[in-house]
Amino acid sequence: MSTLRSILRAAALAALALTVAACPKNDDCAPTGRNDEIRLGLAPACEGCHITGNKPFFASLTAFENGLVYDERYVKPGDPENSMLIQMLEGNAPGSYPQMPPGQPYGELIANGHVTLTIEQVKAWIRDLPPPPARLETSDPEEFNVRRLTAEEMVVTLMDQLGLTLEDFVSTSDPNWRNKAYVVNGGKLFVWPGDWAPGISGEYVSDSRSVERFDALGGGNSLLYRKRDVGFGPSAGQTLVQMSQAWCVRAVDKKSNTAVLRYVTLADTSSKNPDAVQKNLRALYLRMLGQPPSDAEAKELYEQVYMPLEAQSTRLAWIGVCATLIRHPLWITY
Ligand code: HEC
Repeated sequence: MSTLRSILRAAALAALALTVAACPKNDDCAPTGRNDEIRLGLAPACEGCHITGNKPFFASLTAFENGLVYDERYVKPGDPENSMLIQMLEGNAPGSYPQMPPGQPYGELIANGHVTLTIEQVKAWIRDLPPPPARLETSDPEEFNVRRLTAEEMVVTLMDQLGLTLEDFVSTSDPNWRNKAYVVNGGKLFVWPGDWAPGISGEYVSDSRSVERFDALGGGNSLLYRKRDVGFGPSAGQTLVQMSQAWCVRAVDKKSNTAVLRYVTLADTSSKNPDAVQKNLRALYLRMLGQPPSDAEAKELYEQVYMPLEAQSTRLAWIGVCATLIRHPLWITY
């Protein structure tokens, strides 16, 4: 079954996959063709901002080709002067971003030895642009990459999957809630970003631990200029364990919430209604992890998590199954 250790291992693998993809930092990473030569040549000037995010051109050769080289908005084959990439390097591109990198002319980076690839070389490459590789048409399994969910994704996804809303944690039903300090429904393990509304300051979130837990999950905070943590360390693991348990309790105890108890009630036991228990177990697995369990996984979950807890109560059994799925590597990664 998925222990904290296996989660951490998955997260370490995820981090590794990200570093391996970032080849330009790696000295023995020889270019695999003309496009790759240009990618590696530009990388020192660009990858700082374009390895992740919404324009990850420098994450891999495929990303470079799909996102930049064969997008005619940026590179017009045979026509460097009208290619936005060249205009950006020269600092005279139309639009909101006339120069890349912003704030430092590319020419200066050449002058100080930060890059060696010249704009002339980039132009020559565009004049003679290689045809797109065939694999642009198909997806490339080698490019498969995982990352951990961000803290924001964890909070939003989990509320949705467990059928919970803000009201389950804070008193939004109070007609005057926007004008006074938030009353956190005590002990519900609320987790909330410090820079989201509701919760911009202590004004709204009267329990500062809500924000501290979010920080521990690896969340950033733009108000404090703190970046999100892309790794998955012990404090994130520990917070997720607590959060998964507390929130599954809320979900199971919430009246007429079918998120966890879809095909069973707490009166159904493995001896009274085995089919319903099995069906619910599989449905919950699918809901939380986005794919049906194999028979072996369903059996393991049933025998190692559900059954031992059912001996105490069906309520505990479903809370345990729910929390286990949230700590599954498939849940934590994307
Ligand atoms: C200091 C950070 C930074 C560096 C370094 C940087 N960029 Fe950017 N780049 C940005 C930002 C910010 C944007 C605009 C926001 C976005 O779309 O992600 C952007 C956007 C772009 C775009 C899309 C523009 C558009 O209008 O669609 C291209 C192409 C681009 N950069 C190429 C490069 C290249 C090539 C380099 C290296 C020579 C580079 N960038 C270096 C931050 C950077």
